[in-house]
Amino acid sequence: MLIQKRDIPQVANDMMNMLHEDEIEVVNRFYDAVVARDIELIDEIFPELIMDVDVHFGTEEAMMAQSNYEFAQVHKSDHDTMRKKLKDLHERWEILKGPKEVKGFLEKDFKQWFGLHIAKWDAETAPNIG
Ligand SMILES: [Fe+2]
Ligand SMILES: [Fe+2]
Repeated sequence: MLIQKRDIPQVANDMMNMLHEDEIEVVNRFYDAVVARDIELIDEIFPELIMDVDVHFGTEEAMMAQSNYEFAQVHKSDHDTMRKKLKDLHERWEILKGPKEVKGFLEKDFKQWFGLHIAKWDAETAPNIG
């Protein structure tokens, strides 16, 4: 398990909390496959993770746009940074099939980013949208 539900702060928006729980479930399943070095399973879950991240970010961005949230662009650009990292990592995975690199990314980059992004951007945004 990479991320525990209790490690992630609740924000003042039920939809966002639901998206976060869902993402934790997918990323933990992905992490288990990476730790097990199960190439086929990683191949299977990687696109699912990218899609799930896109639903998570895209839903928040749609809610921010609908509410004309003033910091929508800055919040979105933090999403875009992670979208790009995941896309690049997936491209490298397709060529190298290296679980070690993916494991390092999840443990050293994604995990910390996820907690910090929610604690800062999602928490700040939640009371101002939806
Ligand atoms: Fe979020
Ligand atoms: Fe966000």
